[in-house]
Amino acid sequence: MSPAARERFLVTGALGCIGAWTVRTLVREQSPVVAFDLAGDRKRLRLIMSERITFVQGDITDLGSVERALDEHEITNLIHLAALQVPFARANPPLGAEVNVVGTVNIFEAACRRRDRIERVVYTSSMGMFDAADADGSDGVLHVDAAAHPATHYGVYKLANEGNARVYWLDNKLSTIGIRPMVVYGPGRDQGMTSGPTKAILAAVVGRPYRIAFGGRTVLQYAGDVARTLIVASRSGLEGAQVFNLGGSLTRMDELVSAIEDAVPEARGLVTFEPQPLPFPEVIDDAGLDVLGDVPVTPMREAVRQTVEVFRSRLAQDDLDPETHGLEAAVAST
Ligand SMILES: NC(=O)c1ccc[n+]([C@@H]2O[C@H](COP(=O)([O-])OP(=O)(O)OC[C@H]3O[C@@H](n4cnc5c(N)ncnc54)[C@H](O)[C@@H]3O)[C@@H](O)[C@H]2O)c1
Repeated sequence: MSPAARERFLVTGALGCIGAWTVRTLVREQSPVVAFDLAGDRKRLRLIMSERITFVQGDITDLGSVERALDEHEITNLIHLAALQVPFARANPPLGAEVNVVGTVNIFEAACRRRDRIERVVYTSSMGMFDAADADGSDGVLHVDAAAHPATHYGVYKLANEGNARVYWLDNKLSTIGIRPMVVYGPGRDQGMTSGPTKAILAAVVGRPYRIAFGGRTVLQYAGDVARTLIVASRSGLEGAQVFNLGGSLTRMDELVSAIEDAVPEARGLVTFEPQPLPFPEVIDDAGLDVLGDVPVTPMREAVRQTVEVFRSRLAQDDLDPETHGLEAAVAST
């Protein structure tokens, strides 16, 4: 049997934004995949796919539930995305630590106990573990081996995960690949500190004003591209505790707004942004990522256009509730 014929993926956090795109990508290429998530709401999956999926409701803080899912479905490829994002970790740091750190150790431990079947774990770390000042003082670039000085609990948890991945390699020869996204955008990105660009696109489509909470330049990464990168990483054959910065489209907020206005001309003037940049490095060194294989980057204008198309088509089917997908309730004018 070829390795591809044996593949059975499990995606944790599968009902989240990147998870839904990862499940969709695998389903569309007819690779067996189990979607694992604590939540039950499939709103992000419904936005981007209509195919049936195999779903296991489970909690990554419960090692037993992870292990059962891996064994019942004879999983060979594990992509770990479940986490609490910055605002949720800030609101409840003990829970954030339990899910983001203990949950991730559970994933590594469960995979480690099945190294004969699971070759490596691919997981999302984050550029959010770096402070803007962690970029190289001479060229302004955040290099992959930069020292991290996180300013949020979330960043500290992600840094801890990279450390635990390294120790699982040193102690047990469990191979892991950590991918560090920056600002993921596209259908389904409806929560978290950097969800503004996607909410702005949705607001434009439904004709509402929206102010993105940051300006400056940042690297935007289309959710479908992130999903493909994770899958490519899972199949890469790389050994060790590897970590990669994820590239994308380095974009100024005024460029994003202009792309939105070109895709939705009737929304001209509705999307604005705060001037201050995100407190993270702007320019990211993603050299080295190509050792994984063919990693896609959809140009920003094209990704905006595709996102508009998804929202418009749902709207045309009367199947797009803006509040469900991250916008605050419109204030009725009197
Ligand atoms: N979105 C970004 O811009 C970005 C940037 C850097 C890193 N990341 C990382 O990528 C991953 C996915 O991000 P996303 O944007 O898809 O997040 P998301 O918030 O949309 O989805 C997270 C999912 O994890 C699930 N989950 C939470 N606790 C769980 C638990 N205890 N057990 C099982 N499932 C649980 C949630 O129900 C949710 O479906 C996360 O690890 C995140 O930290 C995201």
